[in-house]
Order: sequence, then structure tokens, then C-alpha cells
Amino acid sequence: DTLESRTLEALAKYIKDGEPKKIVVMTGAGISTSAGIPDFRSPETGLYANLAKLNLPYAEAVFDISFFRNNPEPFYTLAQELYPGKYRPTITHSFIKLLHDKGLLLKCFTQNIDTLEREAGVPGDKMVEAHGSFAGQKCIECRAPYPDALIKIAIHEKTVPHCEACNGLVKPNIVFFGEALPEEFFLNRHLPATADLAIVMGTSLTVQPFAGLPSECAPHIPRLLINKEVVGDFGYRADDVPLIGDCDTGVRALAEACGWLEELEALWAQ
Ligand code: OAD
Repeated sequence: DTLESRTLEALAKYIKDGEPKKIVVMTGAGISTSAGIPDFRSPETGLYANLAKLNLPYAEAVFDISFFRNNPEPFYTLAQELYPGKYRPTITHSFIKLLHDKGLLLKCFTQNIDTLEREAGVPGDKMVEAHGSFAGQKCIECRAPYPDALIKIAIHEKTVPHCEACNGLVKPNIVFFGEALPEEFFLNRHLPATADLAIVMGTSLTVQPFAGLPSECAPHIPRLLINKEVVGDFGYRADDVPLIGDCDTGVRALAEACGWLEELEALWAQ
């Protein structure tokens, strides 16, 4: 079935009629900005616009594996700000959990390393953390795991941790530029093609291969974009629904149109 029009109401009707049963969600840093975590590329507030103090050759270098090998300090200067634990999931994270509770979530692909989807209650087996997370860290030379308790101290003290076995640099298991994505990404990347609705939220869709996922959805399925700007190839397909603006406002509007708003607010308040 195709949508009658590209409005939110048409999409909500499609959802209420029980058409989609396998929803893929794809997220990025924009779903966590209202939790207090900066995104990367927003012009004034993004992390990359605010890295001048770190004297980097270019902003992305802070997450570049070859740069890190020679100069790990900038990353560890930032790590304290990025480290999970002090942030609360947003209502957008709870919306993903609500889709799961309704049995509609096929998979959530996230580029975020803040683990807020899990904290909102989305089970680990429904998540593909495509850029890894701060859960775990290892030596970049001998690959020996490094204890959680010790990295917490290093991050807190803004010092650079070294391997207890070979003295190599220790790095959290987040994916840097120049590194491969985790196996789960490749094991699950066929799923968008089997979904019956895609919801893309809070991402500029600039970093490959993640950025290619929405294009892998079947051509006839609706794709909802909730983002401050139009990104990727959104708008080129007849059934694309662009909801341009804030994520939390957008998911509330969608939940309202589906008759789920009270349930969503209650879930988020838990
Ligand atoms: P970006 O910072 O590139 O994009 C965030 C997007 O969310 C932008 O389009 C913003 O306009 C939008 N946005 C921000 N706040 C929003 C809000 N409250 N409501 C709606 N939209 C909002 O972040 P990502 O796309 O996640 O990778 O970046 C992708 C990857 O680049 C990251 O995973 C990271 C980074 O380098 C690595 O470090 C490997």
C-alpha cells in the first residue's frame, strides 16, 4: 500500500491500520541533543565546531585512528564529556521503546555511543550500535581488554590509559574513522530492505556506510524523517514523509496522531 499523501496524518493512519509490522529506526546524535549531549555537525553547538581549543589539524581527527595513535590526548580530553552515565534518555528514545513494546520494532540502528536507547529500555538484541559504544575498551596493539574501573579513572582524570600487558594505547570500543564497523552492522544491514516502515531521526547521514541504510529500504515503503534539516536522499521517493524540526516535537506529534501520546509520556516519565 502506498500513502495517500505525504502528511503525518496519512502516515499515522497507515500505522493505526496496522500496515507496518516491521519498523526500522535509524538514529544519530540529534536524538540526544535534548539530553544535553552535543551533536557533531550543527554549526554553532556541534562538537566539531567547538574543538578549536584542542589544536586539531581538522575536527574529525579527534576520532581518527591514525591520528589517535600519535596523539591520543585530544580524544581523552573530550572523553569525559562523552562518557555515558550522566545523561537521561529523551522522549525520542522512549518512542523507540514504545515501538518495541507494541511489537513493531524490527531493529534500531544507531550511530550513537551514548547507549541511551538501551537506557530507555530497548533490548540489546533490537539494537545495532553501528559505531560501537563505551561498553568495553582494549589495547589497540595487542587487543587485550582493559578493566572498566581503570578506564573510568583515566577518563575522569583526563589521562591517557595504557595497556597493562604491552603498554600500548587503550581505546574504548567506539568506532573511529579508519576502523571497521562491528560485525553486527554487517549481519543486520539486510534488514532495512525487509522493513515496512523506516524512521530516520537526528542524523546528518554524512558518514558511510551507515548513511546508505535508508536507501536500502524497499522503494515502495514509507520513510519518515524527523530531523532539523532534510538529509540524504529524502524527498526523492513518493512515500517519503519529511517532518522537519525537533525530534522530541516530531515524535510527540506522531504519537499524538496515532493516539499513543499519553502512553509515550508515561513511558518516558518512568
Ligand atoms: P551529526 O552531528 O552529523 O548530525 C546531527 C543531525 O541531527 C543534523 O542533521 C542536525 O540538524 C540534527 N539535529 C540536531 N539536533 C536535533 C534535534 N533536537 N532534533 C532534530 N534534529 C536535530 O550527527 P550524526 O549524523 O550522528 O561518528 O553523525 C554521524 C557520525 O559522525 C557520528 O556517529 C560520529 C561522527 O563523526 C564517528 O565518530 C565515527
